Amino acid sequence: MDDLNVGVIGAGWMGRVHARAFQRLPHHWSSLPLRARVVAVADSAPSATAEFGAAFGRDVTAYDDWRELLADGRVDAVSVAAPNFLHGEIGVAVAEAGKHLWIEKPVGLTAADATAVRDAVAAAGVVGCVGFNYRHIPAVARAKRLIESGAIGTPTHARTQLLTDYAAHPGSPLSWRYAVDRGGHGVLGDLASHGVDLLRFLLGDIDALTAQTAIHIGRRPIAQAQGHYAVLDVDDPGLEFGEVENEDYVVALVKMASGVLSVCEADRAAVGEQNNYAVEVHGSRGLLRWDFRRPGELQVSSGDVYSGQPTGTVFSEPGDGEYAAFQPGAGIAMGYDDTKVVEARNFVLAIAGEPAELATLDDAVASARALDAMVASHQTGKWVSVS
Ligand code: NAI
Repeated sequence: MDDLNVGVIGAGWMGRVHARAFQRLPHHWSSLPLRARVVAVADSAPSATAEFGAAFGRDVTAYDDWRELLADGRVDAVSVAAPNFLHGEIGVAVAEAGKHLWIEKPVGLTAADATAVRDAVAAAGVVGCVGFNYRHIPAVARAKRLIESGAIGTPTHARTQLLTDYAAHPGSPLSWRYAVDRGGHGVLGDLASHGVDLLRFLLGDIDALTAQTAIHIGRRPIAQAQGHYAVLDVDDPGLEFGEVENEDYVVALVKMASGVLSVCEADRAAVGEQNNYAVEVHGSRGLLRWDFRRPGELQVSSGDVYSGQPTGTVFSEPGDGEYAAFQPGAGIAMGYDDTKVVEARNFVLAIAGEPAELATLDDAVASARALDAMVASHQTGKWVSVS
């Protein structure tokens, strides 16, 4: 088996999740065509690379400039988990260096960024994989299969919500996430991007949408911060405050190309909500509903009773997505990191030229176009075409 040498850019939460995912591949698939090894990491914060080295091996070469990692001839493939504003530039550079690319969502700040990365990946002939990992949850894979088999009849309407509270505290510092030139459109790229991808994964392309957005907390304390969840004491008289530039909340009415109407709602500052992410699809003969916090369960209503038809819970089981690689029987819940292990596996298979179900850069462009359309619709008050 050949080695696939991986470099990770951005050693925060997601960079570590990617690295763990590569390490775990042999635990779940004994016969992958390539053996992934993390050999290098790049992060501008020395503390981040030091912690990464402690976790993943002192022999992982640490760079403070991602360009040096790309110049490392050993590196075949790169995970990009840096802040959003760097994704466009780094994604293009990874492809131009002839290295395979696994890049976190959102792929840059706008559809133009995502398109540039997509075109660079296509021109270089490398594999591009995007971190839309909710696709890899077995219950979501089962929902897709049930929709395609007609189990809920003809889809009529759908809803996806991503409500959480990492930005709900007024003391959450003004990090890169809250600036347009570094965090893009806030909750849109951060969470609505997943919602759009789930809708597209389950129901196909988007035709048009109309949306409104809001900023719930307009000013935040200025401080260096890493990660989503830092909080400062807002009563500290020494704190200075700055303007939040991007969206805490978005709600969009989305018309799919099939004509199905969907609602996509996302909030990063929703008090009382902790990762309340869900998708539901209604059809002429039933419904499907999935909740991120109960990942192994899918609520299903299917039949010919119509009024009064019951909704039950089915537990993920071997045969649903890649569940069988993790658990031997139904009802043993998988976790968040497991979805990234599946994503890493699909990335490795695609690099080896084998069939793999990836979210691609085309998916990233489609998602980014929908997010750009949400911003435009809020500004104009009009429906905006996405197709
Ligand atoms: P984080 O803040 O925990 O980590 C970002 C890291 O990038 C930090 O260690 C920071 O020092 C480093 N960094 C900053 N500037 C850099 C530079 N010039 N060169 C190299 N490294 C640099 O952020 P987190 O949560 O890991 O997010 C990273 C990306 O992952 C974001 O794009 C985010 O949208 C995405 N993400 C995706 C999730 C998913 O479910 N697919 C979940 C969480 C984040």
